[in-house]
Amino acid sequence: MRLFIDTGSVAEVEEIARWGVLAGATTNPSLLAKEDGDPADIIRRICELVDGPVSAEVVAKDAKGMVAEGRALRTLHEHVCVKVPFSAEGLAATRELTDDGHPVNMTLVFSPNQALLTAEAGATYVSCFMGRLDDISVDSTQVVSEIVDVLRQSDTETEVLAASIRHPLHVVTAAALGCEVATLPGKVLKQMLEHPLTTSGIAQFEKDWESRPEFGEWLAGLVATTNAPA
Ligand code: E4P
Repeated sequence: MRLFIDTGSVAEVEEIARWGVLAGATTNPSLLAKEDGDPADIIRRICELVDGPVSAEVVAKDAKGMVAEGRALRTLHEHVCVKVPFSAEGLAATRELTDDGHPVNMTLVFSPNQALLTAEAGATYVSCFMGRLDDISVDSTQVVSEIVDVLRQSDTETEVLAASIRHPLHVVTAAALGCEVATLPGKVLKQMLEHPLTTSGIAQFEKDWESRPEFGEWLAGLVATTNAPA
């Protein structure tokens, strides 16, 4: 499963892109509204940093407006993927955009029926929101599992993108269910780093190594020789 970052913060993408694990990013109007600065600059910079698809969302209510906004967003950077909210108008816009060769991430999908329609409209990604389902006491694992199953049985290349991820367990669930992508807030990506045995293991290695200062000198010498300018 590929990992995208779900954010409108350039600083957050700068920090986490360094890890070398991000395959793309998603933004949405709420995430961008929290940020200072020009949205065009933010989207372009995130595109450069992740070097993969970056979803930028349309806000028009009718298909014509969504298509016009989608085409405009696509001029910002070649990595932009047009994010379209699910609706009848959104489906019509998705069909038109994908027929013109623009990738679409259909968002706010909460059921297998919506996912089937999304796939038929030709979307590249169907964004299934886990956290928001759990918030209303609907089991997101069950819904995402059904979405993956129905799309696998259809003749579609639409990828299932697990969204609205609130904690590391959602990430593992999405991967186990066969989602192709998950988009995660920076906070969850950082939580995924943590394990108490990793922390204590590193501390123990450090302590044992320091008990042999001559080993430290040996390694420093090796590093200097290896990295000396030719
Ligand atoms: C998806 O692309 C959305 O930006 C996002 O995952 C929404 O998450 P939320 O439900 O935590 O707002």
